[in-house]
This record gives sequence, C-alpha cells and structure tokens, in this order.
Amino acid sequence: MDLITTEFGFSSTADEVAKGIDLTGKRVIVTGAASGIGIETARSLARTGAEVTMAVRNVEVGHKVADDITATTGNDRIYVASLDLTDLDSVHSFVTKWTGPLHILVNNAGVMAIPELQRSPQGWEMQFVTNHLGHFALALGLHDALAADGAARIVVVASSGHLFSPVVFDDIQYNFRTYDPRSAYGQSKTADILFAVGATARWAKDGITANALNPGAIATNLQRHNGGKLATPPELQKTPQQGAATSVLLATSPLLEGIGGHYFENCNEAMTVTSRPSNYEGVAAYALDLENANRLWDVSVDLLDQRAR
Ligand SMILES: NC(=O)c1ccc[n+]([C@@H]2O[C@H](COP(=O)([O-])OP(=O)(O)OC[C@H]3O[C@@H](n4cnc5c(N)ncnc54)[C@H](OP(=O)(O)O)[C@@H]3O)[C@@H](O)[C@H]2O)c1
Repeated sequence: MDLITTEFGFSSTADEVAKGIDLTGKRVIVTGAASGIGIETARSLARTGAEVTMAVRNVEVGHKVADDITATTGNDRIYVASLDLTDLDSVHSFVTKWTGPLHILVNNAGVMAIPELQRSPQGWEMQFVTNHLGHFALALGLHDALAADGAARIVVVASSGHLFSPVVFDDIQYNFRTYDPRSAYGQSKTADILFAVGATARWAKDGITANALNPGAIATNLQRHNGGKLATPPELQKTPQQGAATSVLLATSPLLEGIGGHYFENCNEAMTVTSRPSNYEGVAAYALDLENANRLWDVSVDLLDQRAR
C-alpha cells in the first residue's frame, strides 16, 4: 500500500499545519500540555477555535501556560485539569469528571530514560506506566466520550526511540532482565504505537481512530535525565512548534479522516523497517504488528484489572 503523504515536511510548524482548519465546537484534550511540544500542540489547536483541556500534573504551571495560550490565540476556552498518569486514581478522577463528547485526545505526556529502575506503587516499570499504561487507562475511560463524536481521533506521541526495543512480553516490568533506561523508553514507545494499532482495530467501528508519531528531536525538559542535552546534531533538531506539527496534523488533517493504525514522522507516514536504520527514521515492523497490538491490549487490561482487585 502507498504511504500517506502530505504537503508538509520536516520544517513545517504546527501553526502552518493548522492554518485554515476550523474546529469551532470541537473538544480536545492534550496530556502533558504544560511543557515542551505539548504547549505548542495545545496552542496551535487553540488557534483552530477548539476547546482545549490541558491535562497536566502541575496545575499551577498549567494555568500560566493556559493564560499565555489565551493571550496569544484569543481563545478563552482553554481549561486545565489535574492528571498524573502514574497514579491510576488520578486517571480515574480525571475521567469521571469529564462530561460530554470528546473529539480529539492527544496522548503527549511522557518521560524518557529514567536512569535507575523506578516502579509505580503497583510495581510496574515507570516509563511503561507513564508513557503507555496511564494513557491506556485514560483512553479506555474516555472511550464513550470519544464514541459520542462519531469521528474522533486519538493522537499518540511515540518516538524514534521505539527502534531500540519491542515490547518484551516475557518481562515487560524488568523482573528478570537488567534495567536499561534506553530500552525501557524504547519498549514504552513501541507500546504507544501498538496502542494506536490496537485501538483502531477495536474502536474504528465506534468512529474512533488512532495514529502514532515521532515528533523529531526537540530540546525540552524531556532530556532532563540526559544532562539536559539532545544528542542530535543542531541541523537535525526542531523547534517546539516544528515538533508539534505532526501531532497537529494527525489531530486535524482532513486527509486522515477515518484513517488509523499508522505511524508518521515529519508530517508524512513513515516507511516500515526491519532493522534499526542509522538515521533512526522509519517504524519497526514489530510496532505495527496487529498480533503484538492485541497481545499488549490484553496484557494492559489484565494489569489494570489486577490493580482493581
Ligand atoms: N523532545 C524530543 O526530542 C522528543 C523526541 C521523541 C519523542 N518525544 C515525545 O514527545 C512527548 C512530549 O515530550 P516533550 O519533549 O515535550 O517533553 P517535556 O517538555 O518533558 O514534556 C513532557 C510532559 O509530560 C508530562 N508528564 C511526565 N510524566 C507525567 C505523568 N506521570 N503524568 C502526567 N504528565 C506527565 C510532563 O509533566 P511535568 O512538566 O510535570 O514533568 C510534561 O508536561 C513525550 O511523549 C516524548 O516521549 C519527544
């Protein structure tokens, strides 16, 4: 099948992608919207006229960012809500407070390369919980609100980091293998992409589709565990506005109506690869595999069920 291509590319900004798109009357949630590319994703979506809820851990910072977004876009329907993805009570509380339809969910929040093995209170590895499982619980909880729209989209911010590890089903939680910050990030980001595949397979019939993306290399707080520095050469780095472009494309482009289960980078669908390329472009075949996606879905449901018991 031909890859999906657009008029946008590496240097496009989120504002350029959103130009001319009118989402007045639509409702959007962006997780992790008080920092980095989440801010610019929320800002460009605000420019389309949509109501934007910023789901953030630090509500005080969230309000400052929301005020700035209102000041720069003129959109005063920017809301801030508390969400800690590692705390399933917090996810539950966010979901139960949500009323009415939801048109676009942007799973943007994330952590990268936590140096030492950290576990949630349930004993789950922290990058897997933050990047995948918390978002999985969130999307499950918001399913009916998304289905109420009839043509809702989930945008999953993954990473080229997924090329460093598949989901290792026999030891997702690092109970046996030696913890490695990069492979744990890779596993969690592969899980993000598999979620987009699994959600589309299950929920397209409800009018919900999900796509995943790599935003590129952007200097943000994400690099806090890597000495605050990006390893990528300057000419291959993006600004936060450029980093938000592919997220905004997947959230808004008419080209993607009803399309899900794909992985994009630089605003175009990425090629599938069967080994890690030296330029870290492309999507690993294991991350788009429906069998893996179904297996991860079942494992994730089991983990949430275990915790509920
Ligand atoms: N920057 C890059 O080069 C790059 C490359 C590939 C992929 N990505 C992906 O892009 C996404 C956005 O990252 P960014 O670069 O914009 O980094 P960032 O500035 O660190 O933003 C990440 C956001 O996630 C939030 N977050 C972290 N843990 C959370 C939790 N437990 N519950 C709720 N929110 C939580 C952070 O909240 P706090 O502010 O409270 O910490 C922050 O707002 C991530 O998914 C990341 O993996 C980024």
